[in-house]
Amino acid sequence: NEQFFTFHNGVPIPKIGFGTWQIPNEEAYDAVTIALKTGYTHIDTALAYKNEENVGKAIKDFNISRENVFITSKLPAETKGYEETLKAFEETISNLGVDFLDLYLIHAPWPWDDIGKDCTAANIESWKAMEKLYKEGKIRAIGVSNFAESDIQALVDACEIVPMANQIPFYVGRDQKSLLQFCAKHDIVVEAYSPLATGQVLDSLELKEMAAKYDVTPAQLCIRYCLEKNTLPLPKSTNEDRILENSQLDFSISPEDVEALDAFEDVRAKS
Ligand code: A2P
Repeated sequence: NEQFFTFHNGVPIPKIGFGTWQIPNEEAYDAVTIALKTGYTHIDTALAYKNEENVGKAIKDFNISRENVFITSKLPAETKGYEETLKAFEETISNLGVDFLDLYLIHAPWPWDDIGKDCTAANIESWKAMEKLYKEGKIRAIGVSNFAESDIQALVDACEIVPMANQIPFYVGRDQKSLLQFCAKHDIVVEAYSPLATGQVLDSLELKEMAAKYDVTPAQLCIRYCLEKNTLPLPKSTNEDRILENSQLDFSISPEDVEALDAFEDVRAKS
């Protein structure tokens, strides 16, 4: 189906998700309601975003059945270990007011205040807890986020289930070539967060010119680019017009232009 990627366990995931990172709880209800109205059926949140409560409330109040909306949340990067993971999962589904998740991810291989720290053993313990929840039917798919090839390989070597997704920063100028190849080899769906480089790439003159050629906005070009690269974009906005704009991607980018976008400078390389 054109509208879905399929995980290696057969579970489909809608090809575009609504990202909610940096949307405060007070704004999350309205933003998610608009997203659902606009036709998004896939919402991405995390315990660390502190907005699960209103994300869940918006989904509940909207006229959509639970099976028709795909919900992702994440185990905080700082929370690792078997029991800790089971506990954090319970907190998340209670915040959201749901009895299962569609996708649950380890938010990062290391705590945010110590990026790069080796937490392999603790990640393996977390992963075993996620496998348990998956087998119990409480999560339809399990995955990771911000994982490098070696982080994923450690789980593959020590555990039973290969992650179904890896959610990473991905945008024009940051094509993550070798990680994408690694994920393709293991049949891991790559989700692109910050597909607009948190908005920083949108002022590029080159991008604007290319977007004009396709009669789309720079944001639409960036989001479509993710799909051309077989990654699942998670654009985020709190503005109704832009939420709609970001979901209108009915065009395709020529292979030459995709290559040109691959070669863009990484605007966030220094941040
Ligand atoms: P806003 O919420 O006011 O629309 P990313 O998804 O890469 O993290 O980028 C999100 C940032 O890009 C937010 O600051 C958001 O602001 C902005 N943004 C989202 N969609 C668009 C768009 N279509 N045009 C311009 N800026 C956008």
